[in-house]
Amino acid sequence: METPYELLGGEKGVKRLSEEFYAVMSSRKEATSIRQMHGKDLSLVSEKLFLFLSGWLGGPALYLEKYGTICLSSPHAKYQIGEDERDQWLACMDQALLNLDASYELIAMLKEPMFNLADVMTNKV
Ligand code: HEM
Repeated sequence: METPYELLGGEKGVKRLSEEFYAVMSSRKEATSIRQMHGKDLSLVSEKLFLFLSGWLGGPALYLEKYGTICLSSPHAKYQIGEDERDQWLACMDQALLNLDASYELIAMLKEPMFNLADVMTNKV
């Protein structure tokens, strides 16, 4: 059985997904408030998202290798993230997956684990 990492096209596909995710965040009106939490230059965070997703989707654990952890709560702690911000983030990810022509099966398969992961980042009511 193929991993989500493989279904997305491996390293190249997951890199494209990370870039597309921030492109969607930058262009979606509803995502303006979460886009503003990020710096002007998204290249570093896009690279970090790629490193993280690589391992999380079943490929090489690049973020763990580089940073020695896969805990993302600390880097998010300084931002005010509630349900609205979480849901905007997830909507950008759904759109990015659609833009990459990911199958509906893959999108459906990632839905719950992706929600649970994003929910961990919420730190305000
Ligand atoms: C599945 C959920 C999420 C994943 C996988 C994820 C992934 C990441 C990663 C890998 C980083 C870089 C961390 C580092 O510095 O090492 C990051 C930073 C960040 N994330 Fe998330 N994130 C998620 C959810 C969210 C949510 C819900 C928000 C809400 C707005 C958010 C806002 C941010 C911000 C503001 C930064 C810092 C960006 C910067 O330094 O310019 N993230 N995220």
